[in-house]
Amino acid sequence: MERIYPTEPLMHSTQPIRYDPAFEVPEPDEAETTAAIVDTLRAISRKTFEDGGHGLRSVHAKSHGLLRGELVVGDLPPALAQGIFARPGRHPAVLRLSTTPGDLLDDSVSTPRGAALKVLGVTGPQLSGEAGDTTQDFVLVDSPAFLSANAKAFLRGLKLVAATADRGPGLKKVLSAVLRGAERVVERLGGESGTLKGLGGHPETHILGETFYSQAPVRYGDHVAKVALSPRSPWLRALAGAALDVNGKPDGLREAVLAFFAEHPLSEWDLQVQLNTGLDDMPIEDASVLWPVSLSPYTTVATLAVPGQVAWSAARSEVVDDGMAFSPWHGLEAHRPLGSIMRVRHAAYAASAAQRAHQNGRSLCEPRSLDNFPD
Ligand code: HEM
Repeated sequence: MERIYPTEPLMHSTQPIRYDPAFEVPEPDEAETTAAIVDTLRAISRKTFEDGGHGLRSVHAKSHGLLRGELVVGDLPPALAQGIFARPGRHPAVLRLSTTPGDLLDDSVSTPRGAALKVLGVTGPQLSGEAGDTTQDFVLVDSPAFLSANAKAFLRGLKLVAATADRGPGLKKVLSAVLRGAERVVERLGGESGTLKGLGGHPETHILGETFYSQAPVRYGDHVAKVALSPRSPWLRALAGAALDVNGKPDGLREAVLAFFAEHPLSEWDLQVQLNTGLDDMPIEDASVLWPVSLSPYTTVATLAVPGQVAWSAARSEVVDDGMAFSPWHGLEAHRPLGSIMRVRHAAYAASAAQRAHQNGRSLCEPRSLDNFPD
């Protein structure tokens, strides 16, 4: 088995802190906050379903790549050999690339991007309590810190933007607008609604050049970490910040991903973790704080290998977009999501997935193999 070395040596003298459940301190009215966020999500999905007749995710509705790959875990030093990375191994994996809106917008509206990774065949006590589940998800976006400190601050932004949105198409853009910080602009404008018109604003770049981050922390076995997925192959790295003209191409991002995997027989990403070395600089409950890489660099713990393939198809969309759900809460207790934003995501992802499953008359379950994954 290949040995995977950290991308940067662990030079800093500070050791990773040991995980303690007491690191989490729920907000007093967290249940009410969660219920209000879930209500908004439900309203968004109801609206898209009324308009399009198909159940979609309340955010990250549009997929641009639905890829089959393999996660390769090497022999790691003890601090990094935790959870699903405890032993060397190879796991089938699915990578879903998306953009934030809860609606299937033209790609000329350029928005932040997401990457959801589902790793199969993992063992250990599951957060779901379902003994039969053997998956671990990592749900990531293309910037390293979340916009709001906690669920309450996130809800404040959501309400502010929702109050300025019209009841029609605007509503569907509310959550994704908040997820990209539109509430700050609304605040600056004194509550004017102009911002929602400009949902775009992300640079028009190739999605395969992005590095994706968990933004909020997870338990990392004995420790605590944030997670990132970063291009490793030179041909992926070459796409970082590379301009992509999607004007006049409603599905331009998807077309670019299809063309890329038609050309490249094998592409690799590094799955990396940033271990927490001290709560003062690296808080758990405030997801808006960037953990300094000068104190703890992101280090590689596994490689995601993705062969050349037809990277998106209607058949794959039915299996992954409609038949699967990705959530930070699908996985091992050893990778328990931590902090306010992570806790509120528990109910939010479950509600969105249940609603679209119901709308589409399907049941969702965690895959045990990719034997029937369409080619
Ligand atoms: C309070 C904060 C958040 C809320 C309420 C929220 C809510 C949601 C919901 C409801 C979905 C759709 C779930 C489904 O139907 O399966 C979703 C998907 C997604 N979210 Fe979040 N989210 C939040 C924060 C984040 C953060 C911090 C990240 C990453 C750093 C993230 C990345 C994603 C991605 C990539 C998807 C698409 C998953 C897929 O491909 O199925 N979200 N989010």
